[in-house]
Amino acid sequence: MTTNVAAREYSAEDLALFEEIKNGRTFDKGDELPPLYKKHLMNLLWMQGDSEYAGALGYMPWIEKAPDVKEKVLVAQITKDEMRHSQVIYKMLKDLGEDPEAHIENTEMGWKLDEDQINIGYNRMKNDFRVNIFYYQIKYWEDFILFNFLMDRAAGHQLEDTLHSSYTPWKKGIEGIYKEEVFHLTHGDTWIRKYSKDPEQIKFVQERLNLWWPRVMNVFGKTIGGANDIYVRLGLKKRTNKEVRDIFVAEIKEKCDEAGLVVPEWSEEENLAITL
Ligand SMILES: [Fe+2]
Ligand SMILES: [Fe+2]
Repeated sequence: MTTNVAAREYSAEDLALFEEIKNGRTFDKGDELPPLYKKHLMNLLWMQGDSEYAGALGYMPWIEKAPDVKEKVLVAQITKDEMRHSQVIYKMLKDLGEDPEAHIENTEMGWKLDEDQINIGYNRMKNDFRVNIFYYQIKYWEDFILFNFLMDRAAGHQLEDTLHSSYTPWKKGIEGIYKEEVFHLTHGDTWIRKYSKDPEQIKFVQERLNLWWPRVMNVFGKTIGGANDIYVRLGLKKRTNKEVRDIFVAEIKEKCDEAGLVVPEWSEEENLAITL
């Protein structure tokens, strides 16, 4: 017997699982996982693991290119954090029977798009699982700062849901990761405040913000469709994509107002329509 919930077909077994999770059921390392649960958990873990890994590789050149030694140390620290985050997540995947090392060998995790001005919308470029913002080049130091300001902040908001995850190893692992993401976004905020005092500088940051804005907005996923509903039912997320995105936008709006930056327009429909 199947029941239609939000345009998806679920078995009576799935519905019973949703109910148990709603009532507080959790899963730990070594537990036998219901196939539906395992599949969706692994999707999210691969997406995070590859994003952390590709993120670390993208930050790496900036250890050398950062403006001074103090900043080089900070970038090295942030890069090490991201690589460690990938290690934490990949370890969980290994415990679930996956082979992250072979995956890294067989994918081009360091690959980036050549074009600076491109927006790929919701498209994917390669056979890895990174969130697609990690396909873009960090071309200027201001981009690195915007990555901290925007993407580390977006990651922080998304990971807040994981602090309540029904998968115990992930919930535990995320506590340290979350704190480090807050440190990264604070680094971005410090620089944005500094830029706001220089009209020429903030003009350039605005130019780069216009470019990065759709890229970060697309990271939150689609408002309708996708697997959002089932992630919530499985206790792997707490809020819908739109709810998390709206909170992020409100926070960015406040920060931009303070800095004299304008939050660009963004249309989900337009971005969904982009084909490559
Ligand atoms: Fe991270
Ligand atoms: Fe980060």
